[in-house]
Amino acid sequence: KPSFCYSLSSSLTQNENTTVSYLLDQIEQIRSESETGPHSITVDIQRPSGCFSIGCYDRITNIAVKLQPKTSAQHFMLANCHFDSVANSPGASDDAVGCSVMLEVLHSLANLSTPLKHGVIFLFNGAEETILQASHGFITQHPWARQVRAFVNLEAAGVGGKELVFQTGPENPWLVQAYARAAVHPFATVVGQEIFQSGLIPSDTDFRIFRDFGNIPGIDLAFIENGFIYHTKYDTPGRIHTDSIQRAGDNILSVLKHLVMSDELADSSQYRHGNMVFFDLLGLTMLVYPAHVGTVINYIVAVAAVIYLSGKCLLTTGRYMRDLVCVVCVLVLSWIFSLVTLLFVAWLVTLMGRSMFWYSHIHAAVFLYGSAAVCILLLIHTLVKNRCYRRAGRVDLAELFFDGSLLLWCFVLFFFTHRGWCSAYVPMMMVLFPLISKLLLTKLFRARGASLQYSVLYLMGLVVPYVYIMFLIRVIFEVFTPILGRSKDEIPPDIIMASLVTVATVILSSYIIHFIYLSRGTKRVLAVLGSVFMLMFVLVSCGLFFPYSADPSSPRPKRVFVQHITRSFHTLNGSLQSSDSGLCINDLDYTGMQHITPHIPQINDSISTHCQDWLPYYGYTRFLTLQFLKSWYLPAPEVSPKAPLEVQLLSRQETQWGTVKMSFEVKGPSHMSLYLHPHAGASLSSWSFNDWNFVFYTHGLDAPVWRFWIEILSSNVSPDEGLVSLAITAHYLSGSDGRSETLESFLKRFPAWVFSSSWISTYHMYTY
Ligand SMILES: *[C@@H]1O[C@H](CO)[C@@H](O)[C@H](O)[C@H]1NC(C)=O
Ligand SMILES: *[C@@H]1O[C@H](CO)[C@@H](O)[C@H](O)[C@H]1NC(C)=O
Repeated sequence: KPSFCYSLSSSLTQNENTTVSYLLDQIEQIRSESETGPHSITVDIQRPSGCFSIGCYDRITNIAVKLQPKTSAQHFMLANCHFDSVANSPGASDDAVGCSVMLEVLHSLANLSTPLKHGVIFLFNGAEETILQASHGFITQHPWARQVRAFVNLEAAGVGGKELVFQTGPENPWLVQAYARAAVHPFATVVGQEIFQSGLIPSDTDFRIFRDFGNIPGIDLAFIENGFIYHTKYDTPGRIHTDSIQRAGDNILSVLKHLVMSDELADSSQYRHGNMVFFDLLGLTMLVYPAHVGTVINYIVAVAAVIYLSGKCLLTTGRYMRDLVCVVCVLVLSWIFSLVTLLFVAWLVTLMGRSMFWYSHIHAAVFLYGSAAVCILLLIHTLVKNRCYRRAGRVDLAELFFDGSLLLWCFVLFFFTHRGWCSAYVPMMMVLFPLISKLLLTKLFRARGASLQYSVLYLMGLVVPYVYIMFLIRVIFEVFTPILGRSKDEIPPDIIMASLVTVATVILSSYIIHFIYLSRGTKRVLAVLGSVFMLMFVLVSCGLFFPYSADPSSPRPKRVFVQHITRSFHTLNGSLQSSDSGLCINDLDYTGMQHITPHIPQINDSISTHCQDWLPYYGYTRFLTLQFLKSWYLPAPEVSPKAPLEVQLLSRQETQWGTVKMSFEVKGPSHMSLYLHPHAGASLSSWSFNDWNFVFYTHGLDAPVWRFWIEILSSNVSPDEGLVSLAITAHYLSGSDGRSETLESFLKRFPAWVFSSSWISTYHMYTY
């Protein structure tokens, strides 16, 4: 899901001149240094033009570098990075690091004294932030694209840290196997792949373009730490540790080296089939096995647990079964109850206007929601223990609750496996390890005891799955907390946070909850947890935790977009009907302007509007919900770019088949969008672009004017109405046209914890 507000790359001349010549210099240096070696380096600057889905591009810039043994090669790996960045962000992590790593990998490979078996194409692509256009230009048009057998893509969804392999394939197990074998510091999980491909994460990478348009498999890596400052002014080189660059370099170099020496690359079609389950164990080693093997393992483990449980059923009388069912009900009810309670707390927090209090203080969320969740679980089990099982033996009860948890994890395992999810390896671990440790302990301690020794050994048996799952939960919080600061959803983020905390608590409590039944009393623990919760609730409602922070060591900016816009509406005969100007303010999270209004009283809800009310036919129709978003609009003086948009109707003719065909010429800045709205009684029968009536257009430095045509079919449109409205927005992102005095002085009024991305736009509506 490309995001409109993000998808605007930085200054055109910087992007197409400064960066390109810097890269070319570096590449030339590497080339001349390694001239006597066994490899040759060829550089090609590609300036592709094309269209796909909602985007069109004209003469954007790609630098492709071909490294091959002097004897020449037929099969190539592709390594991809992008050197453009979003407007108003230095883009150190996204994606300058990727490109630096690639330069250094090129350097190392070119310097090898023994020739490689296959070649590598390094693609430095210059338009990724504009909805992945440059990679499309390369893979669909460059002559070298046909020789590419697989790719490695280095991206960022955060700043620094470790780079996670979060997608591989499709199919082609040899790729992830190569990563598992070669990566020096593996960090990968198929859970990431399944979450990403489900669309829960609002972003996309060149991986999709290579896969869908090039039909090429690959590995997608991204830095995921500190997503709070991704795409902001804080994405600076100083925030990326050299360790993290070295780490990425080590991994990519060795994986590429491994792949270009492999047989699979030459004949990848032979090794195509099957998906893989893959994950690393705390960075120490990688486990990789085919999905069908995974399915077999999962079913065996699940069946073993079922056998264990039914064995117990047979040995004891019917009572055991009945008790087990009761216990499962108690467990499930306790989960539901704690979820409902937490959602209620989250709703109260939202109602009090304290949404996202955890954005800068994740521990506050753990203390508030976590203490509540644990408290409710403890409370319910204590009640059950005291009310329902007063006479039952403690050890028997604990045993029963262990069995209940095992059964529930078994259900989860069956469900995941049945759905074909590779992530089923997680519940598999949560069944396998507890089951094994239970069986061993039962053997060891004939007289099942509640002894300390027994408990310690039991807990040791849980170490592997628990450490792994805690690590996974940490990664999930690390990825999703920042995303809640840049996803304009109807769902309050506290509801999501509270649900995540509940799920984490339930998962972690599952195999230790039965200790409640072994313990003598839980009153004291309950009292402590209850007080922690009450205290946190009071602190949160007093507003002690402010969501955002400008602290330079760990900034948590609120993302705000400010566009200084002049809009002009033209009549059917082309004359200017009306025009006005203003500052259009959008934000990206749930708190809206709530915290900004006290600093800038002019931005308050009296000026809030919906994008589409103020800018008719502005946004993407189905891709982006920008048009449904609330925005804030303040009147402002007119903008007057030095290079104003020029729209010209070149020709208009009636075709034989009864339509009206019009062709246009548009001259404007590097980023423009165009929306077409046929009037009542008319319809768009075809036009130069896609199936939608929206186009996002990007052009490179010396691109020709933008020409396109439309064909309108009309039945009974009154002649003074016109057939169609054309709304064109020109975005001036950089240079003197990208700034205005009004904008500058307005931006200065924002508090330091706001990251404002700003630019100038002109909006033009014509009727034909
Ligand atoms: C590459 O080779 C050149 C010339 O042989 C040498 O000066 C340079 O240090 C080498 N670089 C690396 C990274 O090995
Ligand atoms: C709200 O904004 C409007 C327009 O900017 C301004 O005139 C008005 O005084 C503001 N209201 C408050 C309470 O500050």
